[in-house]
Amino acid sequence: MPTPPPGKYRPFRTVVLKDRRWPDAVLDRAPTWCSVDLRDGNQSLAIPMGVEEKLEMFELLCRIGFKEIEIGFPSASDTEFTFTRRLIEEKRVPEGVTVQVLVQAREHLIRRTFEALRGAKRAIVHLYTPTNPAQREIVLGLSKDEVRDVAVKATRLIRQLAEENQGTDWRLEFSPETFVLTETDYALEVCEAVSAAWGASAQRPVILNLPLTVEAGTPNTHADQIEWFCRHLKDRKAAIISLHTHNDRGTGVAATELGLMAGADRVEGTLFGNGERTGNLDIVTVALNLFSHGVDPGLDLSDLPRIREVYERTTRMTVPERHPYAGDLVFTAFSGSHQDAIKKGMNRRAKGGAGALWDVPYLTIDPKDIGRSYEAIIRINSQSGKGGVAYVLESKFGYDLPKKMHPEVGNLVGAVADRLGNELSPDEILAEFRRGFVNLASPLALLSFDSDPLGKDRVLVRAEVAWNGDRSVLKGEGNGPISAFVHALLAQGWTEFALSDYRSHALTSGEESSAAAYVSIQTKDGRMVWGCGVDPNIELAGLKALVSAVNRSLRA
Ligand code: KIV
Ligand code: ZN
Repeated sequence: MPTPPPGKYRPFRTVVLKDRRWPDAVLDRAPTWCSVDLRDGNQSLAIPMGVEEKLEMFELLCRIGFKEIEIGFPSASDTEFTFTRRLIEEKRVPEGVTVQVLVQAREHLIRRTFEALRGAKRAIVHLYTPTNPAQREIVLGLSKDEVRDVAVKATRLIRQLAEENQGTDWRLEFSPETFVLTETDYALEVCEAVSAAWGASAQRPVILNLPLTVEAGTPNTHADQIEWFCRHLKDRKAAIISLHTHNDRGTGVAATELGLMAGADRVEGTLFGNGERTGNLDIVTVALNLFSHGVDPGLDLSDLPRIREVYERTTRMTVPERHPYAGDLVFTAFSGSHQDAIKKGMNRRAKGGAGALWDVPYLTIDPKDIGRSYEAIIRINSQSGKGGVAYVLESKFGYDLPKKMHPEVGNLVGAVADRLGNELSPDEILAEFRRGFVNLASPLALLSFDSDPLGKDRVLVRAEVAWNGDRSVLKGEGNGPISAFVHALLAQGWTEFALSDYRSHALTSGEESSAAAYVSIQTKDGRMVWGCGVDPNIELAGLKALVSAVNRSLRA
């Protein structure tokens, strides 16, 4: 790539704010959220939402808990106008929800906007005017004073129409477009002139939306501009300071968070960051970032998969796999060391109960809090480790493998993933585990078995077995069925080993009313080999585990 041609791009300049306070602020409460999915989000779509899709999205936004929703630009198209009328005439706006509509500072558009909103209980008229130098000079060809006067004149008309249309609780929002590229003192001058024309007061505050229309600087410069603006505003109480960030430099979320630290009250954005170019601010991420610090975001995101489904269907957009909180892979670990840490964290948590501090390594929040399952937490491919395989076998199928067995099982399953060069599903992992470890019956097979007590702590076993297909009946004594069977086997001289470990448990999921047993043996050449047995009878499960271990030890 060439170096930037000299003089083609300029450095970003921000306000001078030497005693900035925002770096010490802590976000400990949620802002007022305003969804602009149905306007900014919609206007960026290759195929904009139709009226029915907008209705479905509107209902979703209300269910999530948005109290302010920008529903469109009704003076701009018939679809937008019709949608606004349907919401009002069909009484679809729930109590407590305010609809917001966008309009330019042009008389006929403002009048049409009021027609669209006739009969609404509450409405925010969102007036915007480009104020940044490039737009003033290149697009509008107006001076600073002329641009300010356009905004003031439009505000006066909105105020007059609001007074003529009693019965609706009218509010005004004003956006000096591309606030961050506008001279900050000039943006302040225009906003104060608009506030005065609206008659803003603490009881009737104006919403001053300071849009980061196109991201141009680092998030700290945005915060400086917001703090400067808040501190220089004559009557801070007469204004609600709103943020409207976009994501051109990939830092829309950071810019919003720092802007809130700098004193803003309100945030505009969309679900999953849909919007022009690289998108609007992703409200879901900012809200869940707050949630992850124990702050109630005031939005119900407890069924994020459903929210995503409606979003993807109505917008025809897709949420990428790595998208914060919502992407398919964001709660998934493939790497062995991550899996191991997650497994340990989840096990510790299981002991602590639901209210215990969320401290699971690599997982920012409990996936269940947003309707995601634990199933995807650990997925197995060639990068995965023993802990991950054991986690899947336990969490999905109920096999609580002894820790010392994890490496042997993990190596076998990992080698299969490596060979296939692919991810293994939980069912495939189970199949490999069964094929490699469970109820193995060659060269040794246990055909039938019974035992008799021989006084205290001693049993006699009789086992019918097949060795390479040849049947025989073995007898042996021991302090339990397994040790008695070991003695019977060793007496044949087919193979030499020593029993080294044994444990069993009921299988709580998957194989109904079965037991699983795990046996390890030490071979003559010093290898430790594990086997597993599964049977409704726990004693037989143990014997099958021993047979499996013996058979594994005889495989190459
Ligand atoms: O990004 C922007 O500046 C806008 C305005 C209309 C607020 O969407
Ligand atoms: Zn925007």
